[in-house]
Amino acid sequence: MAGRLVRRIAFSVEEIALRVAAMGREITDHYPPGQPLLVLGLLKGSFIFVADLVREIDLPLHVDFLVASSYGNGTVTSGDVRLVYDPEADLSGKHVLLVEDIIDSGNTINRLMPLLDKRRPLSLELCALLHKRISPPLVREARWVGFDAPPEFLVGYGLDHAENFRHLPYIASL
Ligand code: IMP
Ligand code: MG
Repeated sequence: MAGRLVRRIAFSVEEIALRVAAMGREITDHYPPGQPLLVLGLLKGSFIFVADLVREIDLPLHVDFLVASSYGNGTVTSGDVRLVYDPEADLSGKHVLLVEDIIDSGNTINRLMPLLDKRRPLSLELCALLHKRISPPLVREARWVGFDAPPEFLVGYGLDHAENFRHLPYIASL
């Protein structure tokens, strides 16, 4: 039941929970246990995903966030990516896992990855909850993807439309 707010549920609460737990296990298995892992969430869209994902990762880790703004209140990307908040955390010598809510045009990731690479992390990987698979090849493909997204505008579980709907526990199309 999509409730009064949305048209169709694309991914249910149960589907999301299962997938996020599986991703957490894959990430846990990927990294050597002895070295620090920095999970870097891209705000605001990834805030719920990061909160659930880190609780499924069985490794010592730190959490920080980045703000890169590429959308106004519309549903079409402007192509302009601004870094609004930059983590103070030093990336050098750390395994850095960038967490994105959804990859659409790939613009955000293509601009951000080179910036983060310059800070010489031990490794830099990308984890995305959703991937629309419509972008040209990314500078770095996501190593972990939750779901391939349908070609619709999605909201919920952190994703917004004009700042609304982030609180929905499922992912839905408007
Ligand atoms: P990209 O730079 O075009 O890949 O877009 C990435 C950002 O656009 C994501 O982090 C989202 O904040 C936003 N975005 C793209 N598609 C959607 C969508 O379907 N729903 C909500 N936000 C979206
Ligand atoms: Mg957004």
